[in-house]
Amino acid sequence: MNPLLAHDPLRSPVRIDADRLWARLDDLAQIGAVDGVGGARGNCRLALTDADREGRDLVVGWMRDLGLEVIVDVIGNVFATLPGTDPTAPAVMIGSHIDTVRTGGRFDGNLGVLAGLEIIEALIDSGYRTEHPITVAFFTDEEGSRFAPDMLGSLVYVGGMAVERALDICAVDDGARLGDELARIGYAGSAPCPAPAPPKCFLELHIEQGPILEDAGITIGVVEGVQGISWTEFTLTGRSAHAGTTPIAARRDPLLVAAQVVAEVRMLCRDLGGSQVATVGRFEPHPNLVNVVASQVIFTVDLRNTDDLVLIEAERRLLEFVEQVAQAESVSVQTRVLSRFAPVDFDHGLAELIERCARSEGASSLRLPSGAGHDAQMLARICPSAMVFVPSVGGLSHNLAEYTDPGDVAVGAQVLADAVLASAVLLSGERVNRSTDSR
Ligand code: GLV
Ligand code: MN
Ligand code: MN
Repeated sequence: MNPLLAHDPLRSPVRIDADRLWARLDDLAQIGAVDGVGGARGNCRLALTDADREGRDLVVGWMRDLGLEVIVDVIGNVFATLPGTDPTAPAVMIGSHIDTVRTGGRFDGNLGVLAGLEIIEALIDSGYRTEHPITVAFFTDEEGSRFAPDMLGSLVYVGGMAVERALDICAVDDGARLGDELARIGYAGSAPCPAPAPPKCFLELHIEQGPILEDAGITIGVVEGVQGISWTEFTLTGRSAHAGTTPIAARRDPLLVAAQVVAEVRMLCRDLGGSQVATVGRFEPHPNLVNVVASQVIFTVDLRNTDDLVLIEAERRLLEFVEQVAQAESVSVQTRVLSRFAPVDFDHGLAELIERCARSEGASSLRLPSGAGHDAQMLARICPSAMVFVPSVGGLSHNLAEYTDPGDVAVGAQVLADAVLASAVLLSGERVNRSTDSR
């Protein structure tokens, strides 16, 4: 009997190997591993560092082991494709990122890439074929911690930023040029970017990175969209002076101004309410000495809201406040927009498909917006896109202790597999005999 007919049509006969996926997550997590307090072990693989290269090499090795065609584009995005039966059909793309923040976890991004690889391997093992090719991708510099903006590789892939401009971005830590770092780690590819043709659709599995699913006791998040993101870098310049001899009235202290901004952004969130969040994440006083009034402070503010009009209001109020407190202290202000993305809605049809796949797998699901930025929000500009979330223990992410239960990883990857195989049109005809040796 045709196994396709023996199941709920969305419960695919192709079953992922959860242990193999978990083992790959473990292996990738060895690269750039960082130990934290209380036995936490996370990762530092900032974009285009040596650790990023090592992570890339490992994942590309796995892609090649599966016999996939691997291509690298000019911004360093990597794509590995399993052909479908129709050579003219656009690929169903699965993807995410493998770069991390400085104190990142082992799931953020990595899960989406390795689940994609697992789906392809499970499909090969099953002997089934799909009409559409399936591509698993990882995009350069999703985190934006080293090179802003975030989601940079996917932004360039969809034509949202010229590649020449992206290659000229300098790192916040050491000033290195992105294009030089890409070449240094061996990932300045030759495939054109933006993409010559869009995929059929894009699907991304990710940890939620927040508390909603865990609090609700739900396994699968069906992501409706991503909130708007606004990153601004402020440079406040005053005058360095002697801490013991300079009267308070004579000071031009940028640190005092910056400290007031840190407190104000929390007030701003209270005031605007709703989904408004605000974070001062990077904060660099100079010269940072005990007995010197600071001469300069550079800091960043990350504002996010699901409602773009409220986000615009938050940006306006923030700038007004900074100008006002800086003026009172005779400190000058320079601003630089690092990142600005409007809220994004995901494809309704794909969201429904994911919901039905969750139901077919017997998993509970809940619709929710994403608080974090993701490559899928960029892909949504060129093709129907959607995301599957699985719970984050304690709602924790961008933290070495980030964790997701193996059972939730397994269900999330299988739901993703079902959605991918339905989109790529799993064929119910003869299964091909593809042994491991012939890969
Ligand atoms: C990426 O992780 C972001 O949301 O900042
Ligand atoms: Mn991520
Ligand atoms: Mn992240």
